[in-house]
Amino acid sequence: MDKKVQINRKRLIQRLDELAQIGALDGGGVSRLTFSDADKAGRDLTVSWMKALELTVHIDQVGNLIAVRPGEEDLPPVMLGSHVDTVTVAGRFDGSYGVLCALEVVQVLNENNIATRRPIAVVAFTNEEGVRYTPGMLGSMAYVGELSVSDARAIQGFDGSNFGEEMDRIGYAGSMEPGAIKPHAFVEIHIEQGPVLDQADLPVGVVHTITGITWLEVTITGTANHAGTTPINLRKDAGLAAAKLIEFLRDIATSIGGQQRATCGMIAFEPNAINVIPSKAVLTVDLRNSDGQALIAAEQRLQARAKELETSDGVTITIRDLEHVLPMKFDPLIVDAIGQSTKELNLPAHRMVSGAGHDAQLLAKMCPTAMIFVRSRDGISHNPAELSSPEDLEKGANVLLQTALNLANQD
Ligand code: GLV
Ligand code: MN
Ligand code: MN
Repeated sequence: MDKKVQINRKRLIQRLDELAQIGALDGGGVSRLTFSDADKAGRDLTVSWMKALELTVHIDQVGNLIAVRPGEEDLPPVMLGSHVDTVTVAGRFDGSYGVLCALEVVQVLNENNIATRRPIAVVAFTNEEGVRYTPGMLGSMAYVGELSVSDARAIQGFDGSNFGEEMDRIGYAGSMEPGAIKPHAFVEIHIEQGPVLDQADLPVGVVHTITGITWLEVTITGTANHAGTTPINLRKDAGLAAAKLIEFLRDIATSIGGQQRATCGMIAFEPNAINVIPSKAVLTVDLRNSDGQALIAAEQRLQARAKELETSDGVTITIRDLEHVLPMKFDPLIVDAIGQSTKELNLPAHRMVSGAGHDAQLLAKMCPTAMIFVRSRDGISHNPAELSSPEDLEKGANVLLQTALNLANQD
């Protein structure tokens, strides 16, 4: 292994800047929702970079992009990558950084004529964010065989659009079967999106565990009535029941404690008028915990509270599953390989848990997997203010490069 090779920071930052111009929002930030025109343009640019590096680009039936650099031997590849879709109002690093670091690894190997025993595959998974279509991490879920192509194609988005039709519309329904290229190992680099590294003043971290995620859609049905004439004790107020349920989410998080998180990120009232008691409230719930038992307990408590509210508030409540992803412990050998690369680069190898979901937690079901995190300033993410310093981005990318070289030369 040649330890002298280094990634090109300037080029990495330039690519991040260029990709961030696609779907750029007035006032800062980017928006490339899955299969939007901006997502298509972001994909087009990513594919053009893949082709410029002489990679063989495959597109699978759910739109995952897999670009392969051959190895000296015809063995399963070391896969590197992340996603290029974003949340509605996003920063420029979430996902994109992981894909562009993977491209940078390939470019450095190409420039230095470094052959690896195993191929290296660069991947950009479809719909990691789950903001337009649930489940999130959809591309990786299909890749590991947990979601069929036909089920994926039938998904209806929050905006009423159809996943399959939109994929066809932007021209990214490929022919390859998801998961056809089974990796030797998968390494995803990503910004931390939380405060741990920033608070500890560390540039990078080694992720050994990812949180479990439960996404639910709660529909509360009451009765629309006049806001002025309906006595308080005669109301079936779906809005009030929604408020009570949202407050209970915080109680769940504080009483379970530890890594438990609970969030309502979306809500819609019907008929949504100033002088009408809401007849309907539809809200989303995001529950997370790296302890799977605690995560199940959190969901059970939410269901029990919903039953109570049906009685106390005279409403009916239905809860629909949108996504259940179990917590994932990564392969200790890949975690150690990343830790070793970190040490070789004289960086501290801080081991940590991810509170965000990542494609890596699905890939871990298919092959040995782990992640590298890079410090996020003030821990801010899913926000245009998302920021990691060029120095930290470079350090993380070099950890990825060394790890990829080590793994790609393994038996
Ligand atoms: C993805 O960003 C998630 O953790 O929801
Ligand atoms: Mn991400
Ligand atoms: Mn994200």
